[in-house]
Amino acid sequence: MDDLLQRVMESVKYIKGIIKETPKIAVILGSGLGSFASEIRDAIEIPYESIPNFKTSSVEGHDNKLIYGTIYGKPILAMKGRYHYYEGYTMQEITFPIKVFALLGVSKLIVSNAAGGINKKYKVGDIMLISDHIKLCGDSPLIGPNIEEFGTRFPDMKDAYPRGFRSLAKEVAQKLKLEVQEGVYAYMTGPQYETPAEIKMLSVLGADAVGMSTVPEVISAVHLGIDVLGISCITDETLSDKKISHDEVMQAVASVEKNFTRFVVEIINNI
Ligand code: HPA
Repeated sequence: MDDLLQRVMESVKYIKGIIKETPKIAVILGSGLGSFASEIRDAIEIPYESIPNFKTSSVEGHDNKLIYGTIYGKPILAMKGRYHYYEGYTMQEITFPIKVFALLGVSKLIVSNAAGGINKKYKVGDIMLISDHIKLCGDSPLIGPNIEEFGTRFPDMKDAYPRGFRSLAKEVAQKLKLEVQEGVYAYMTGPQYETPAEIKMLSVLGADAVGMSTVPEVISAVHLGIDVLGISCITDETLSDKKISHDEVMQAVASVEKNFTRFVVEIINNI
């Protein structure tokens, strides 16, 4: 058996020994968005370091725990802490948990992040549903031998963020009287923030927001046949002259966290 498949199965076996029911839904919590986890009932925390073959993320605001529990009675798994390419992880390492989710039986993935707003209409604190993405970084989590058990060699990315899943999220937003944007997320590896020329380029290319995560996980999820809902929390306006820092991004996320949590909890209720 392929070594990667074997490692994924080791992690699956370990997690199955802890969880009670097979979750259909998994959530990846972006930087500073961990408070959603406190909404999970009967939560069981599984530290990444205890899971065979899992890595730990070094970034502030990431907790390195997988949390199993229920939301409105539905079993879910939430990643509190994710891996980034800029930390030095390979694309395969970043997307390892997605493969584990798929083999556990997860069919819906809600993936969140902090992102810089490029669209002039976006304000700090906005929530954006990702309709599509742009990846300029040459690497891909699918480079290397294809493992048929995971998916096809050449996955179609036309429907990476299925319209139906976004429609459900928009209906929930309406019920909650939450205004949400919808736009294209550009993936830049970071860790440096973008130059003004890069932001201009991304804008010309049709990007509405930019960030340093999510796209590797989404590509892997599409490969594995998992439906994705992507949610960006807009933490800064990249076209402004104002300098940006990670502290400011974290502060801005803190201002959105409550709405984000309400939103995701109700989305799960309506899945
Ligand atoms: N650029 C890239 N990543 C980000 C940004 C940004 O402006 N804000 C939050 N994450």
